[in-house]
Amino acid sequence: MSNELARFSVAMPEDLLMRFDGFVARRGLAKNRSEVVRDLVREALIAEEAELPGTEVMGTLTIVFNHHSHDVQEKLHHIQHAHYTEVVSTTHVHLDEDNCLEVIILRGEATDVRDIADVILGTKGVKNGGLVVTTTGQMI
Ligand code: NI
Repeated sequence: MSNELARFSVAMPEDLLMRFDGFVARRGLAKNRSEVVRDLVREALIAEEAELPGTEVMGTLTIVFNHHSHDVQEKLHHIQHAHYTEVVSTTHVHLDEDNCLEVIILRGEATDVRDIADVILGTKGVKNGGLVVTTTGQMI
């Protein structure tokens, strides 16, 4: 893989370019058009890579639940032990008297990480949450 910069020109509607320039400006003075385009391309390639079955991914799963609800805490604990090779770490925050937030860091094969996240998100008592998946971007 070569790190030499290659130049190419891009055609786009003027109004889209104006909006893009606003986006570049909001990213700060340290970024110019080319750097922001490179960031967006890397982001797209990592998102695509993270979808491929067999890819090693890292996921952060954030969930909110009421710890009084059924036996949700026991179920969540059980699921995480059942997948101890993929569950790297869990941070628990007591949001108020009833609600808890957990951030569960997962690492493993893309499909496995998504399946575990789906089981956790689908556990009765989990009110809301979401998974963010990324890779080390080694292919990029
Ligand atoms: Ni709690």
